[in-house]
Amino acid sequence: MGNNKGPRHVAIIMDGNGRWATSQGLDRSSGHEKGTLNIQRVLQAFSAHGVKYITLYAFSTENWNRPKTEVDNLMRLTVSSIADQLAFLHTEGIRITHLGEKSSLPPEVMEAIKECEKTTFRNDKLTLNLAFNYGGRSEIVKAVKKLVEDKVSPSEINESQIETRLYTKGIPDPDMIIRTAGEKRLSNFLIWQSAYSEYYSTETLWPDFNESDVSKAISVYRSRNRKFGEL
Ligand code: IPE
Ligand code: IPE
Ligand code: MG
Repeated sequence: MGNNKGPRHVAIIMDGNGRWATSQGLDRSSGHEKGTLNIQRVLQAFSAHGVKYITLYAFSTENWNRPKTEVDNLMRLTVSSIADQLAFLHTEGIRITHLGEKSSLPPEVMEAIKECEKTTFRNDKLTLNLAFNYGGRSEIVKAVKKLVEDKVSPSEINESQIETRLYTKGIPDPDMIIRTAGEKRLSNFLIWQSAYSEYYSTETLWPDFNESDVSKAISVYRSRNRKFGEL
């Protein structure tokens, strides 16, 4: 059983930064820092396996409910890691796109994300979708609002009319959703797009997720039998 090629698109819920920090006797912000530094090696490892799209869940619409100091720190870290990593990602031929609501972000974060998109626009080796201030439900609400604004009549509404109004317009659905740190839930991530994604959960905390974890996830994916409702 299992004759899958690919995956072409891997989406990752990067969870466990806080637990990693606690396990090392460090504060939570060190965990987020370590987690951010892990992104490059994971991207390179997936790319080596032929993956073309990687979506990273970095900040959810619900993460605003964390203590203000943690939220502020995550915003600062995002700006500084973009400053540190953008040049490298660009040289590697990685295109960065943003999934989420830009308008409610602090201006410096919004600018940093826009700069990523603008700088890497023409790259095509790998697409990195950064889900930041992203929520699946709010994405669907936005799409519905656009349908109404565009005056689409009920008889014209179909799945593709909705899909072209999601943040992920033009991006294939994720073949596999990986969640680190053992939790078994989607936490409002890609709830429309994951309808037929293969789900993979590992106990490994995100800062520890390395090349061999990537290889393992890929081989589990390839051993699965995707059926899409067929026999
Ligand atoms: C994931 O790590 C990063 C974000 C949600 C921003 P957590 O901060 O959720 O780590 P845990 O779950 O507390 O270990
Ligand atoms: C999901 O992780 C969001 C991100 C990884 C950005 P959380 O840690 O916020 O999810 P819950 O609260 O455990 O469901
Ligand atoms: Mg968490």
